[in-house]
Amino acid sequence: MTVPTTQQDTAPRTLARCRDLVRPALAQAVGRLHPWHAGMAAFSLGWSDVDGSPLPGSQGKGIRQALAVLGAEAAGAPGREAVVGAVAVELIHTFSLLHDDIMDGDETRRQRPTVWKAYGTGPAVLAGDALFALAVQTLADAPGGSGAPAVRRLASALSDLVRGQAEDLLFESRPWTGPGAVRPHEYRSMAEHKTGALLGCAAGLGAVLAGAPADTADALDRAGRHLGVAFQAVDDLLGIWGDPQTTGKPVHSDLRRRKKTYPVLAALAADHPAARRLEVLLHAGGPLDDDAARRAAGLIEEAGGRTATVVEAHEHLAAARESLARVPLAPAAHEEILALLPYLIRRTM
Ligand code: IPE
Ligand code: IPE
Ligand code: MG
Ligand code: MG
Repeated sequence: MTVPTTQQDTAPRTLARCRDLVRPALAQAVGRLHPWHAGMAAFSLGWSDVDGSPLPGSQGKGIRQALAVLGAEAAGAPGREAVVGAVAVELIHTFSLLHDDIMDGDETRRQRPTVWKAYGTGPAVLAGDALFALAVQTLADAPGGSGAPAVRRLASALSDLVRGQAEDLLFESRPWTGPGAVRPHEYRSMAEHKTGALLGCAAGLGAVLAGAPADTADALDRAGRHLGVAFQAVDDLLGIWGDPQTTGKPVHSDLRRRKKTYPVLAALAADHPAARRLEVLLHAGGPLDDDAARRAAGLIEEAGGRTATVVEAHEHLAAARESLARVPLAPAAHEEILALLPYLIRRTM
C-alpha cells in the first residue's frame, strides 16, 4: 500500500516545527553552562565544531523535545507551555548519549567523533553531569505550579534510565544460551528503562506542564514507553544492518561487544539451523572481529532475527496506540503523534 505523500510528510514536519519552537530556549539553557561544558554540548548538538567555531553538523532527530510539545498540545494547550520540559528532556538525552558512548566504547555519533573521542573521557563525563544538572534546574524553574510534579516525573524517568543502562551492561556478560541467557521479557524491561522511560517522560511532562489531569499524562507516558521498546529494537537493527553513513554511528559495534540486542536474542530463540551455527560462532568467546561480526549478521537474518525485530517493534507501536486511545486527546496533536510512530520505526537513522 502506498502511503499518501501528505501523511508521509507529517512526521518530519512535526519534528522541524517542534525543533524551531524549542531551539531558542535550548540555546539559552546551554548558554548557562560553564563555557567548556557549553562547547562540548554545542558540539554534541551539532551546533559547532571542537574549536567552538560555528559549524552546523548532523543533529539528533529531536524526538523527545517533539513528544514534550505534542504532549502539551494533546492536552489542549499551546506547545510553548511545554518548552521548558522539552529543553529538559533534550538535555537529559544529550547527557545520556555522552555517557553511553563512553560505556559502549563508540567513537562516532551523528556523523562526528563522539564527545569523549573529541575532548577526552574526563571532560565528556563532566559535560554529561553538567547537562544533567542543567536539565533539573531548568525544569525546577518552570513557571506556575507545575515545577515540582514535573521534576518528580523527570527524576523517576532518570532512575529508570540508569537502571536500564545497568541492565544493558550486565547483559554483556550473560551467556547467549542456557539457563542464564537473557530472556525476551528481560530485554523488553531493559529497553523500556533505558529508552522508553525518557520518551514516556517527555510526552507525560508536556501534559503535566499544560495542567492536564494525571491520567492523561500517564497514558502519554505509557505510550512513550511502548514507543521506546519499539524504537530500541529498531536501533538494534540499525546497529547491524544500518548504513553508518546514514545512521552516523558505527556498524556491528553491538555485535562486537556481545550486546544482547533483540535481533540476536530472537535469532537464537529460533528453531532454525542458522540459529545453531550462530550459537557456535558466538560461543567462541572474546570480542568478535569484523569478519565474525559480518558472518553473525548473516546468520541472524537467516534465522529470522531481523524479521522478528520488526514484528516486535510493530507490536509495541500497537500498544502505544491503544494507550493513547484510552484518554481524550486533542485530535490534531493525536494525529501528529500517530504519524510519528511508524516514521520512527521505518527510519534509517
Ligand atoms: C539514540 O536516540 C539513543 C537511543 C535511545 C537508541 P536517538 O536515535 O533519538 O538519537 P538522536 O538524538 O536522533 O541522535
Ligand atoms: C542508548 O542505548 C540508551 C541511552 C543513551 C540511555 P544504545 O547504546 O543502544 O544507543 P546507541 O545505539 O548508542 O545510540
Ligand atoms: Mg550506545
Ligand atoms: Mg548503550
